[in-house]
Amino acid sequence: MNLFLKKLAQLEDQNRLRSLKLPGGIDFSSNDYLGFRSHPSLKKAAIEALENGMDLGSGGSRLLRGHTEAHQNLEEFAARYYGCGKTLYFANGFMANYALFTTLPTRHDVVVYDAYTHASVRDGIHAGTAKSVKVPHNDLNAFEDVLKRYRDKAETLYIAIESVYSMDGDFAPLSELYKLAQLYEAILIIDEAHGTGVWGKTGKGVSEGLPQENLVTLHTGGKALGVAGGLICASADIIDMLINTARPFIYSTAPPPLQAYLMQKALELSASDEGCTRRNDLRTLCTYAQEKLSGAGSQIIPIILGDDKCAVDAASDMQKAGYDIRAIRPPTVPENTARLRLSLNAQLTKPQIDSVISALADYLPGI
Ligand SMILES: Cc1ncc(COP(=O)(O)O)c(C=O)c1O
Repeated sequence: MNLFLKKLAQLEDQNRLRSLKLPGGIDFSSNDYLGFRSHPSLKKAAIEALENGMDLGSGGSRLLRGHTEAHQNLEEFAARYYGCGKTLYFANGFMANYALFTTLPTRHDVVVYDAYTHASVRDGIHAGTAKSVKVPHNDLNAFEDVLKRYRDKAETLYIAIESVYSMDGDFAPLSELYKLAQLYEAILIIDEAHGTGVWGKTGKGVSEGLPQENLVTLHTGGKALGVAGGLICASADIIDMLINTARPFIYSTAPPPLQAYLMQKALELSASDEGCTRRNDLRTLCTYAQEKLSGAGSQIIPIILGDDKCAVDAASDMQKAGYDIRAIRPPTVPENTARLRLSLNAQLTKPQIDSVISALADYLPGI
């Protein structure tokens, strides 16, 4: 048998074969938390921008002819919006994380990272040259032990975390981690992929309000903002370093100007009264679901079933019942923690949450 077919057959035997499936049913699976993906004002902005002559592609790398007014306007706007020195926009969050972790930490440095950080962070760390130490999820003592151990050995210490964990939906103990970063003079890198637009006083992420010193945040466009991209927010020296040395930034065609323009429009929409209303609606749903299901209270609700086949069968049952819910299996999550990942969005209703909970009854012992 052809080698790839053999490997695919093995994955199928393990219930780990993945395949593409079009959306269908009530959306309990997308990251379109605020419903911006189909928002009329963003669609109108896109049409008008094209009608007014915006090009479709960027035509080159950012350092060559691919840098357009749309990119520049977005990055200047975002630096003011997030209150940081400078920002840098990438085509997506994966590339932004990969660029960060392959560029900033170098061989005399140590990166301490949470065991549940996203694949893009871990891949960047592993492709980079710094020493890295994985610590158990959200374990502050473990973070401190490692920081203490390497403080005098490392030239620069980095801490890599997510504000809201993508597969578990729990929050990082941000203020404690920020204090540790200050104490051990580490640079704290916070992936706000699932915090942007949803959390923080005005939707800037869970880290909203933290002092900017020694802080790097990543805000993605593809989730609550409904568009696409990865925006790194940091001090001017860090951003200039990325512009000068980050290979994914230098050796890649810049994202289309329309994409950068829409990222800015989506940030503006998030900051508007309507963005605020949608965020409040979503947070109300989060609290409602938390009262019924317990959990961390974010928009991401894992229902851990353990066994891979059980998770796949449960997802299929839920899809047949009219709910778009997907199974998440290892290696995306640790072994024996295959799960359904439910995500809430502002357009859902309390009755829809009630009905999904009753449809899930067999998988929710004790509810
Ligand atoms: C925590 C986290 N970081 C980064 C990314 C990558 O972002 P993007 O989808 O824009 O590539 C994701 C996407 O799944 C994510 O969940």
